[in-house]
Amino acid sequence: MKIMVINGPNLNFLGIREKNIYGTMSYDSLCSYIHNFCDDIKVDVTILQSNIEGEIINSLQNAYIEKYDGIVINPGAYTHTSIAILDAIKSIDIPVVEVHLSNIYSREEFRHKSITAPGCIGQISGFGTYGYILGILALKNR
Ligand code: DQA
Repeated sequence: MKIMVINGPNLNFLGIREKNIYGTMSYDSLCSYIHNFCDDIKVDVTILQSNIEGEIINSLQNAYIEKYDGIVINPGAYTHTSIAILDAIKSIDIPVVEVHLSNIYSREEFRHKSITAPGCIGQISGFGTYGYILGILALKNR
């Protein structure tokens, strides 16, 4: 099974940005955490990060072309703005799980709406980096 993990803007600054909200784990450590878990459960994982909306869309399209079985995406702030990412998710015939480190529903009002979640099979929000593990398990158990 082949899963793509896509991280959006500012997630490369994990461990630097708002540690009280996003925790102290660095982005590199998050990638190792995901890679180690996927090795254990024998899932082939590719992890990508971009601060650029169009690159995230290109990754979603590449996942389709390269026949990935599932996608875990944290679109960062694009969650709340990007119809283009929603359209890309809806364009591909691959189950997508949306993950947020923080509980977006307990934060500012503008974070309460996810534009992208309606294209996904489900959403995980508020469990920190463990959310990625939950997302991968959700895809594996389908
Ligand atoms: C986030 C939540 C978003 O509202 C925010 O813009 C982020 C990170 C999260 O993982 O909690 O960049 O997606």
